[in-house]
Amino acid sequence: MNSQPGLSFEQAPPFHQPLRFFLTAPLFLLVAGVLLAMESGGLNSRWSAGALALTHALTLGFLAMVMLGALMQILPVVAGSTLPASRTVAMVSHAALTLGTTFLMTGFLRSSPVALGSGIVLLLTGFMVFIAAATISLMRVAGSDTVRGMRHALASLALTVLLGGLLALIRAGWENPPMIEGASTAHAGFGLLGWILLLVAGVAYQVVPMFQITPPYPLLLRRWLTGVLFVLLLLRALVPLHAAPAVFVIDACLAAGMLMFAFVTLRLQSQRRRKLPDITLDYWRTGMTSLIACVAVWLPAQCWPAWAKSDARPLLLGVLFLYGFAASVVTGMLYKIVPFLAWFHLQAQHQAKAGTIPNMKQMITERKMRLQFRVHLAALLLLVAAVAWPNVLHIHAGIAVALSSLLLLSNMFAALRLYLKHGGRMS
Ligand code: HEM
Repeated sequence: MNSQPGLSFEQAPPFHQPLRFFLTAPLFLLVAGVLLAMESGGLNSRWSAGALALTHALTLGFLAMVMLGALMQILPVVAGSTLPASRTVAMVSHAALTLGTTFLMTGFLRSSPVALGSGIVLLLTGFMVFIAAATISLMRVAGSDTVRGMRHALASLALTVLLGGLLALIRAGWENPPMIEGASTAHAGFGLLGWILLLVAGVAYQVVPMFQITPPYPLLLRRWLTGVLFVLLLLRALVPLHAAPAVFVIDACLAAGMLMFAFVTLRLQSQRRRKLPDITLDYWRTGMTSLIACVAVWLPAQCWPAWAKSDARPLLLGVLFLYGFAASVVTGMLYKIVPFLAWFHLQAQHQAKAGTIPNMKQMITERKMRLQFRVHLAALLLLVAAVAWPNVLHIHAGIAVALSSLLLLSNMFAALRLYLKHGGRMS
């Protein structure tokens, strides 16, 4: 892998910097599973305290946690530019994201203005420190397709966090300003389609051909997709919600972009040169299929008003997008990044000859990863079913999510144990 064109591993940060994010993330997935198993509220209404706590356990505690850790690694290696003061940035953003998410979730669950206020301060601090450092790093490099995707994703993250802070202030008792409905929709839009989807797309341009030995993404898609989607999200935030025809056209274009990305990824993966079983491939296929299912659930609302008003629709969308698409893709990436980093740092620290240190495949065995993948898939199916029968199935879905997170954590620790056993250092 060291010989991949455009990759500079010499600039990679010490292992502990991304690893602390990767080891914390499954814990929030565990909390989400336990919360869901304990009460069905999270799947009864999108605005319930339980649903908001669950949403942010997933979006902040799991997804953003892994995505920030991965960016710390990917920025120097793929974009060729290190984060300034990376040790401090990793420490501050990790601590602030961990504590801030915990406070925000407590604030939702207990309707506590103090917990919400603490969550806002910590999350704004942590994200702004990270975004400032990543922006400086991205300003130093020429704009490749992946770098452009990262820039759009980071701009979306900044908007999501600012709007989220405003919404949380309102929940904490601050005066309710006009346009609040628009702010809430824009927060969710920039968070899900801007920050998560655009980062996944930008990173996919680099990692799908590299990890799965596929042809490259078509040039036109690489050049334009993330920029066009970002502009559509800005328009969507500016157009008043009651301007139905304009909203419909923008949503249709966003949906077309999502479908294009998902179908092109699936097609490239079907053209891969090495047809060996690969857990990351299975995770990405699950992710892309869920993204396509999201569009099928999302768009008919424009033509089918009863479905638009149904409580199940936003919950099903949340499950498919956050767990089916984002959590699948992110977990699949973890199974490439963590074994690779463990192998890479061992190799770099000891100048080891082949055979004297474990290879990537031995860091986490295929059997363990496949077991975790099956439990993840079962959890996804149970979550989808639980949207229809929340009072009956929330316990099963919650237990499956918790079990999947424990297996993921144990797989991460398996790689870490092997790394330490062979004399790997953390700094
Ligand atoms: C960075 C990634 C984030 C994502 C992807 C995200 C996603 C979401 C989503 C999807 C919803 C809507 C739930 C629904 O419509 O059913 C939501 C609501 C909310 N989010 Fe976030 N969020 C993020 C970060 C934040 C942050 C950092 C804060 C606070 C500092 C925050 C505060 C809120 C609040 C208060 C609501 C409730 C909105 C309301 O009462 O109208 N979010 N978020």
